[in-house]
Order: sequence, then C-alpha cells, then structure tokens
Amino acid sequence: MKFVRFIMKNAALASVPKHIEHFSKFSPSPLSMKQFLDFGSINACEKTSFVFLRQELPVRLSNIMKEINLLPNKLLTTSSVQMVQSWYIQSLMEILEFLDKNPDDHRVLGEFVDALVTIRNRHNDVVPTMAQGIIEYKEAFPQDPVTNQNIQYFLDRFYMSRISIRMLINQHTLIFDGTTNPVHPNTIGSIDPHCQVADVVQDAYHSAKMVCDQYYLRSPDLLLQEMSSNKKNLPVSIVYVPSHLYHMLFELFKNAMRATIETHDDSNNLPPVQVLVSLGGEDLSIRVSDKGGGVPFRRIENLFSYMYSTAPAPQIGEHSRPPLVCTGTVFEVPRCK
Ligand SMILES: Nc1ncnc2c1ncn2[C@@H]1O[C@H](COP(=O)(O)OP(=O)(O)OP(=O)(O)O)[C@@H](O)[C@H]1O
Ligand SMILES: [Mg+2]
Repeated sequence: MKFVRFIMKNAALASVPKHIEHFSKFSPSPLSMKQFLDFGSINACEKTSFVFLRQELPVRLSNIMKEINLLPNKLLTTSSVQMVQSWYIQSLMEILEFLDKNPDDHRVLGEFVDALVTIRNRHNDVVPTMAQGIIEYKEAFPQDPVTNQNIQYFLDRFYMSRISIRMLINQHTLIFDGTTNPVHPNTIGSIDPHCQVADVVQDAYHSAKMVCDQYYLRSPDLLLQEMSSNKKNLPVSIVYVPSHLYHMLFELFKNAMRATIETHDDSNNLPPVQVLVSLGGEDLSIRVSDKGGGVPFRRIENLFSYMYSTAPAPQIGEHSRPPLVCTGTVFEVPRCK
C-alpha cells in the first residue's frame, strides 16, 4: 500500500511542470474590493468560491512559479530558494487534487478549507526564507546593477503575488469556516467595511512604541489629527483590510521612531511623530512625519530597495535583534534584510 502511494506521489510530482505550463497560460483574474465585498456579504456561496479558487489559485501559483524558475541559477539553487520552491510545488499539487472533485459534496468543501489552512501555514515563513536566499546569494557572488534590478523586480512581483494569494485564501477560509469574528463581527473575511483609520494608527503606534521602548527605553509621542473634506465624516472610516494598513503603519512608525531617537540622542525631549489622516473626495491619505533628520535626496531611490538599510546588520548567533530592525519578516511585509 505504501509503495503504491509512493508511486502515485511521484507521478503527481512528475506532472507538475505540465500543470505549471498549463495554468500559467491564464492571467490571474483581478478582483476589486467591491467584488470581494459583494461576494462575501450578499451571495456568499461556498461552492462558487471553491470552483473559482481551484482554478484561480493554480493560475496564480503557476504564474509566479514560472518567474521563480527564471531567477539566476546561483540564486535558484540556494537551499532557501529551493525550500520556497518546494512549498509552492507541494501546495499546487494539493489544490490540483480538488480539480476532479464534486463541488456539491459538503465533505469536499470542508476538505478544501482544511487544505487551504494547511497551505497558508506552510507558506508562513516564505518572506524570511526568501530573504535568507537573497542574502546568501549576495554574499557569495559579486553583484551587477542589472541583476540587482532584476531581483528587485522579481521580489516586488513575488511578494505582491503572495499577498494576493493569501488574501484569496483568507477570504475563503474566514467566510466559510462557519464562525464569525467575535471581536469584529461586521468584517467580511479580512475586510472591514468600516475600518476606523485612527484606531489602526493608534494600534500600530502602540506596537512600535513597545518595541522602541524595549530598545531605547524611550519613544516619541504621537500627535494624530484627522481631516475630512466633508467634516461630517469624522472619525474617518474606509473599506479596507485593517491588518494591511496596520503593517504599513507599523513599519513607518518604527522608521520614524528610530530616526527621531538617533537624531535627538543627546536631548531630553523627543519631538512627536505626527500623523495626518486626510479624507478627500476620492482618496484617503495618511501622512506620517517626524523630525528624525530625513533622508538625503540622492538616497531616496534606495529606500525602496529590499537590500537597503542604514541600520547595523544583525550578527550571526546574536540573540537580540539590533534596534527596531528586521522585524519586517515577522510581520509578513516584504523585507529581506
Ligand atoms: N523616517 C525616516 N527618517 C530617516 N530615515 C529613514 C526614515 N524611514 C526610513 N529611513 C531610512 O531608510 C532605510 C530603509 O528603511 P526600511 O524601513 O526599508 O528598512 P530598515 O528600517 O532599515 O529595516 P526594517 O524596516 O526591515 O526593520 C532606513 O534604514 C533609514 O536609513
Ligand atoms: Mg524600517
């Protein structure tokens, strides 16, 4: 019996390149926030979602797997990137098993939710693992600007693809796991139709403050102001995924706090970090400003490079992290330092 299963597994593995070829010929279907909301609130139909995802997830996985395959060989063959690649292959195979299953069978729908949860957990460490691969590669081989640019381009697409795949998985598992979110009963999957921006700003500030206090034993205050083109809209609320907003703000607060403290090293008073939440007719902007000395213009472009940091690199084997650095990986944001 074990032998038969082994042969079947190998056969499935052998057919993976063929499936990647097939599914990567399709483009991912873009979904707007409104579609997510409409689908999740009015017509939440598990069967429709299942049928959509068993096609859409292989399309998204296969498209990005093709791009992984195009990485420079010396990067592709690092143990970290190999590991990431094996997770993608395994997850693709697990979803493909549902292609010929009956969408009317409730057991199948339940198994699909379980499979998605397993896949989501398997991919939890993709960001630090990929980052590790890039670091190994950078240390072992001298870089040229073109390769650097290509890797930057790949990572932007890779992380964007990962976020989109996780968003799809989260929506399905959260909506169809048969429970409601006890803290936020009105959320639709991970989307909050009434996301209170100031609350998320406060949350992110307090988390960054905790990290900052831990390392520097002090932290700048927060000055938060809200504005709306139509004053009646205060406090400002938007339709958004609060966790995404939180992650972005947390990173900005960490940066602002480190810069403020390093710039005002010898002063007893720290200038506050100021946040302006401004709701216009069409858009919402959030401005985070600090008196941390800023960034020279010639370095502005570097800020968007995954490899750029002015913070001291963590020492191998060091238990504590350097001040406010490298937490990005923990919080699922695309960092690779
Ligand atoms: N508010 C700021 N003031 C001054 N410099 C900044 C500010 N924000 C970012 N920087 C500069 O940009 C660099 C890159 O920031 P980024 O958040 O991408 O990485 P990091 O803070 O060094 O590490 P990580 O965020 O991964 O923990 C920082 O090292 C710092 O030099
Ligand atoms: Mg940072």
